Amino acid sequence: MDLQIGDLLYKGKAKDVYQTNDPELVIIKFRDDITAGDGKKKDKLTKKGYYNSIISSKFFELLETSRVKTQYIKLLEPGLMLSHRLDMLPLEIIIRNIAAGSLVRKFPFKSRQEFEPPIIQIDYKSDEYHDPMLNDDIILALNLSTQEELKRIRAITLRINEVLKGFLKDKDIILTDFKIEYGKNYRGEIVLGDEISPDTCRLWDAQTFDVLDKDLFRKGESNVMEAYQQVASRILNSEDKNKWNLNF
Ligand code: TMP
Repeated sequence: MDLQIGDLLYKGKAKDVYQTNDPELVIIKFRDDITAGDGKKKDKLTKKGYYNSIISSKFFELLETSRVKTQYIKLLEPGLMLSHRLDMLPLEIIIRNIAAGSLVRKFPFKSRQEFEPPIIQIDYKSDEYHDPMLNDDIILALNLSTQEELKRIRAITLRINEVLKGFLKDKDIILTDFKIEYGKNYRGEIVLGDEISPDTCRLWDAQTFDVLDKDLFRKGESNVMEAYQQVASRILNSEDKNKWNLNF
């Protein structure tokens, strides 16, 4: 059966999800839109979708080879990702190796303080409620997931962190923290979905501590795409670069 793109299923702040003629498959379109502050600060950055889709696909392929089940199937072309359909949980799972961002704004942690084991935080994905931090009782009372699912989510998240942290360390990048989202497949299994990109991670140069992620946009800096390109350039091997005609 030839795959055909169908109706728009969901429109997020940076990605669109399209149905296909196969009910179990969706196509995720990575747009160039970038937002912060629950969508209040907005812009379009040329080729952001292109780079984020390539970076996400690299991370998903790496995780699949490390036996982490993901939504990802393949990139049809930069910007368009063929994926398994999931029922997404409205949870933002954040894992922190180093104190930064809202954690140091809200709690008396020292900036750049290291966490071993890392801290896992779960927020409610809702622009309307401004993504408030959850606890297990609230998650269960809102029927957002079960205790068993939470246990599984925490275990998989720790595994993902170990895989990505080690991979990025070899590329001279510190994985300070990141946010991921999970969904359930047709069998009811918890599967990693969405994206893993400089939009959803804090990535610091290991030598200079230069920021290589969306914090640049949040702070109003102009060199956002240069940083995203730098991440792509460091994590992709020459075979990946040839495949996507990237010459850096
Ligand atoms: P925070 O320190 O601002 O709470 O962010 C923690 C991590 O989550 C950081 O890597 C950026 C990422 N993140 C998102 O992916 N989406 C969001 O809406 C927010 C607020 C953070």
